[in-house]
Amino acid sequence: MSTPGTLITSRPLDEYCHLFGLTRSALSAVPGPVLDCPGGASGLAAEARALGVRVVATDPAYAAALPGRTASACHTASAASAASAASACHTAPDASAGPAGLPALAVLARQGRDAMAASMAATPHLYPSPRHRPYDKYLRSWDRARRLFVADSAAHPERYVAAALPRLPFADGSFALTLSSYLLFAYPELFPPAEQLAALTELVRVTAPGGEALIYPLHDGSGRRCPHLDELRAALGRRQVSSEIRRMPRPGDARTRQVLVLGAADHRRRRLSSTEWA
Ligand SMILES: C[S@@+](CC[C@H](N)C(=O)[O-])C[C@H]1O[C@@H](n2cnc3c(N)ncnc32)[C@H](O)[C@@H]1O
Repeated sequence: MSTPGTLITSRPLDEYCHLFGLTRSALSAVPGPVLDCPGGASGLAAEARALGVRVVATDPAYAAALPGRTASACHTASAASAASAASACHTAPDASAGPAGLPALAVLARQGRDAMAASMAATPHLYPSPRHRPYDKYLRSWDRARRLFVADSAAHPERYVAAALPRLPFADGSFALTLSSYLLFAYPELFPPAEQLAALTELVRVTAPGGEALIYPLHDGSGRRCPHLDELRAALGRRQVSSEIRRMPRPGDARTRQVLVLGAADHRRRRLSSTEWA
C-alpha cells in the first residue's frame, strides 16, 4: 500500500503554508489547480476547497482505494496519453474508492503520527521550531488534518490520484502550483540522484509555464542537507528548468528554512533523458 520506508503523514494546510512560505490568501490567488505530491493523508485538499482552491493530491498509497488498479496502472501513461490516463484514474467507478480504501490509509497515517511523536521525544534537537511546541498540540493538528482527509477523500475521491514519482498521470502544465513536501530529499535512500532528477523534472513537467514547483525539505531525516543539490540544479538547468533556493527566516531559530523553487519553462524542450545525470 505504501512505499516501504516512508511514513504516511497528515499535515494540515497551515503547516504546508508555513513550510513553503505561502499564506492562505496567496494560495487563494493561485490561478489554477494545485498539485500536492505526495499528498499522504494531508488535509491540504480538503482545507483548500474551503478557500475555493482546487487541489489534486497524488500518492502511490492511494492505490489501496482502487483495488485491481495499482499505482503503476495509473502512471504508466505516455506523455501523450497522460490526460486520459489521469481521467481514468479520477473516474474509476469503484465503490470502495474513498469510503473503504482511504480510511485504511488513515490507520497508516495514525501510525505515522505515532512514529513522529516518538521521534520528537527521542531526538528533540531535530525539532527546534516553536511551531512544534508543545508536541501534543502540534500533533493534534495532524489528527484534525487526518480526519479532514478521510472525509474529503470519501466525498471527492476523484481528487486523490494513485501514482508514484517519477511518473505522474497528468498532462504537461496541468497545475498552476505544485507542492512536494517530505519525500525527494527526506528519503535519499529511496531517491538516489538520478531518481531525484527524474522526479523533479516530472514535477516541473506537470506545472504550467509561469507556475512554480516548490520542494521542501532539502535535508534528510537526520537534518543532513542534500550534498549534490548544486549538481541537481545544474542538470535541471540543462533541461531548461530554472531553479532557486528561497530562504525564509525560522522564528525562534537562527537558521533559515530553504525551499527549492523550480520554474516551468517550455515543456517541448524538456523531455526526459534518463542518462542525463552525470
Ligand atoms: C512523509 S509523507 C509526506 C506527505 C505530505 N506531503 C506531508 O508533507 O505530510 C511521504 C509520502 O510519500 C509517498 N511516496 C512514497 N514514494 C512515493 C513516490 N515514488 N512518489 C510519490 N509519493 C511517494 C508515501 O506514500 C507517503 O505518503
